[in-house]
Amino acid sequence: MNLRIAVLPGDGIGPEISKQGTDVLSAICQRFGHEVTYDYAICGAEAIDQVGDPFPEASFQTCMNADAVLFSAIGDPRYDNDPTATVRPEQGLLAMRKRLGLFANIRPIQTFPSLLHNSPLKDDIVRDADFICIRELTGGLYFGEKYQDEERAYDTNVYTRREIERILHVAYAYARRRRKHLTVVDKANILASSRLWRKVAQEIAQQYTDVTTDFMYVDNASMRMIQEPRFFDVIVTENTFGDILTDEASCITGSMGLLPSASTGEHTPLFEPIHGSWPQAKGLNIANPLAQILSVAMLLEHFGLNSEGTLVRQAVDASLEANVRTPEIQVEGGPHYGTREVGQWIVNYILSH
Ligand code: IPM
Ligand code: MG
Repeated sequence: MNLRIAVLPGDGIGPEISKQGTDVLSAICQRFGHEVTYDYAICGAEAIDQVGDPFPEASFQTCMNADAVLFSAIGDPRYDNDPTATVRPEQGLLAMRKRLGLFANIRPIQTFPSLLHNSPLKDDIVRDADFICIRELTGGLYFGEKYQDEERAYDTNVYTRREIERILHVAYAYARRRRKHLTVVDKANILASSRLWRKVAQEIAQQYTDVTTDFMYVDNASMRMIQEPRFFDVIVTENTFGDILTDEASCITGSMGLLPSASTGEHTPLFEPIHGSWPQAKGLNIANPLAQILSVAMLLEHFGLNSEGTLVRQAVDASLEANVRTPEIQVEGGPHYGTREVGQWIVNYILSH
């Protein structure tokens, strides 16, 4: 296969983990006889510095012309504590999602047997937890009308029937391929937008009677997720709830640095870690590249390259078992590895298996 990949390293630790992602992808292509080309593009704070726009038109075109986007992270502390900034790096990420029509963000949560003790939760609670959170990505508070003056501010949580229907169909397709259990998470006791979600979901459920559908309020879901994570198979929820719940869910796996995601929709699909740009770690070679590398596995699987994806996952499992780990999940007294060394170990594994 010929793969043309738009690479958007972004800010903070982005460039360091991006390099490990492309090295792993190149190794897979070499090993399985595929062709891959990379087109690099700027986004985020880097793009604001260079051209004053966090997602410039040229970067959008690079994404549109690619088969897939490999994105890393956006964000810069220069903007975090400056509520007056009118152009912010995160706007680049939102523009990227919106312009590429990436309405479905797939965030798988799984545990690694060798990392059970890294979770702040008890081993027997997290063992075998395995679910997918499907987060609606182009609607809701993130994109609704906003207003702010000195005394008053609001964001609007807008959803249309069409937006809810299409994400539900994606969620049901995943549920059908898995344990056939879909949990729709909302706040229908309070929010009108959630009541429309629930109404539409009840209707769509009639088309998927082979799947068990249940409904859960988001406050309850956030508790259930750490109390009994094995309850969940597929979760579908709106943009903001999905953002919050998936950070919480990363505690089940044990590190934010382990969770990949895929965003799909109308145009080029995009693969990215769920974590942010961790500016404090920039250049220190300590960021975990596994979320990015597992995003490469999701990219390969998206194109039906399942043996390729499986080999990436095997290499990641093997690295964890061999204690080839970045500092945040290193075993006490264990060997020290950095971002580059973990990536290189995985590349070598791929080339020799
Ligand atoms: C995520 C991130 C982003 C979001 C930020 C960086 C804008 O937290 O992908 O979960 O809120 O969607
Ligand atoms: Mg988030």
